[in-house]
Amino acid sequence: MSNDKVLIFDTTLRDGEQSPGASLSVSEKLEIAKQLAKMGVDIIEAGFPVSSPAQFEATRLCAEQLSGPVICGLARASQKDIVSAGQALAPAPRRRIHTFIATSPIHMEHKLRKKPAEVLKMAVEAVKMCGQYTQDIEFSPEDACRSELPFLYEILAAVIEAGATTLNIPDTVGYVLPYEYGQIVAKLRENVKGIEKAVISTHCHNDLGMATANSLAGVRNGARQVECTINGLGERAGNAAMEEIVMAIQTRQDFFGGMVTTNVNTKEIYRTSQMVSQLTGFVIQPNKAIVGANAFAHESGIHVDGILKKRETYEIMTPEMIGLSGSRMVLGRHSGRHGFVDRCKQLGFELSEKEIQAAYERFLAIADKKKEIFDEDIAAIISDEVRTVEQLYVLEYLNVTSGTGTVPTGTVRIRTRDGKVRQAAACGDGPVDAAYEAIRQATRQAPTLENYTIRAVTSGKEALGEANVRIKSKEGKTFAGRGTSTDIIEASAKAYVDAINRMAAYVESNGGEKVSL
Ligand code: KIV
Ligand code: ZN
Repeated sequence: MSNDKVLIFDTTLRDGEQSPGASLSVSEKLEIAKQLAKMGVDIIEAGFPVSSPAQFEATRLCAEQLSGPVICGLARASQKDIVSAGQALAPAPRRRIHTFIATSPIHMEHKLRKKPAEVLKMAVEAVKMCGQYTQDIEFSPEDACRSELPFLYEILAAVIEAGATTLNIPDTVGYVLPYEYGQIVAKLRENVKGIEKAVISTHCHNDLGMATANSLAGVRNGARQVECTINGLGERAGNAAMEEIVMAIQTRQDFFGGMVTTNVNTKEIYRTSQMVSQLTGFVIQPNKAIVGANAFAHESGIHVDGILKKRETYEIMTPEMIGLSGSRMVLGRHSGRHGFVDRCKQLGFELSEKEIQAAYERFLAIADKKKEIFDEDIAAIISDEVRTVEQLYVLEYLNVTSGTGTVPTGTVRIRTRDGKVRQAAACGDGPVDAAYEAIRQATRQAPTLENYTIRAVTSGKEALGEANVRIKSKEGKTFAGRGTSTDIIEASAKAYVDAINRMAAYVESNGGEKVSL
């Protein structure tokens, strides 16, 4: 590997999926992994195989079906974890095991209840054990940035000796600032015996909003792998956002010595970001760097004037660089099937005949109500119609009445996977509440509603409404759901049924009993 290449290690499917409510089905993970491979990511952390049957299966499927990137599985420094990761990764032409153990005094004393010497021994044994499955071994001293440097030097030298080829330096709690992170990397390069044989990797969390800056400080000081997630998804405030890392390296090559590059095709960034947002139900904030709706929007007169005179006055990157087409294409009822299919292809959606048919029928139904259909509408239609999570419950009918002086009432008809039809009617505080109560009765599922938002996908009074909900199961796990419609009550009901389907599918794919319908 040439020294100026920064490897992009995507952990959307592992650390990203640890975001509360971001649980993805196995097939959704595979879909994202294929897109990550298409965009040129070097390593995909597909899951934490020992943690659940679904994580094992997702890792195994990625290992079996992807041939470009290295497929990686996470394992604690224990035999059970490493065996599970080794088995899940076995079909991969290029595979990596990522093993970790905490090294900070606070974690060793209070969480692991182990002395540093025991931790060091476990780390070395774990790395040696990984060697039975692959020669590509990554080691992470968890909470590295709150660990004592001399202990880090010692444990990292020992794992290199045992066979580790990548040393990842996690700022697990997002504690350090860019200068400090850069210094840690620099000191490791100076003081760890054998460090020249391994790649140093960054893994920064965003608790203080420093994840991207810290990762780049690591790169500036010699790190040659960055661990990151699409849209910065991840535990708590998330991980470093891949789109920010890649575009910062590309835009500011001068800062990194003019020769640091990544293998990522930046034109796939926008599409990947949209896909992850739609599948996880995590809406992207409008002012999010690189991929937010306003990232390339210019409002102030002075800025617009400057841009028209010379684009570079106010734009350091172009929308085209991240795959946003400069021209906005608008479709309508008369665009025809061919026009619709063509636009889907241009937007990067690869659909089967059956999926095209479902999406096109929905497109026609929406085009009857809404004259202009934008790219965002098409993306919403596809994510709504081309569902990859199994539909245990299908909302067939919804009627809601509400108004001044009326008790809001909802009636629903739900068809279950085994063909049963259930109707229910209920009253509520408002139309959405009434519909949700009726859905709870008809599905016989009673999750707690944690969060509910509604927004317009595009502007104007005919815009598609997109509802996003987050529910909590009785076991305490959260699930996101999403629904779109020109009718916001219908969008809300669809989002709720979607979240319930995800909850039921999760129970079944993790070895729980088949959900009784
Ligand atoms: O943040 C962290 O420390 C991790 C490790 C498992 C690498 O995600
Ligand atoms: Zn992490």
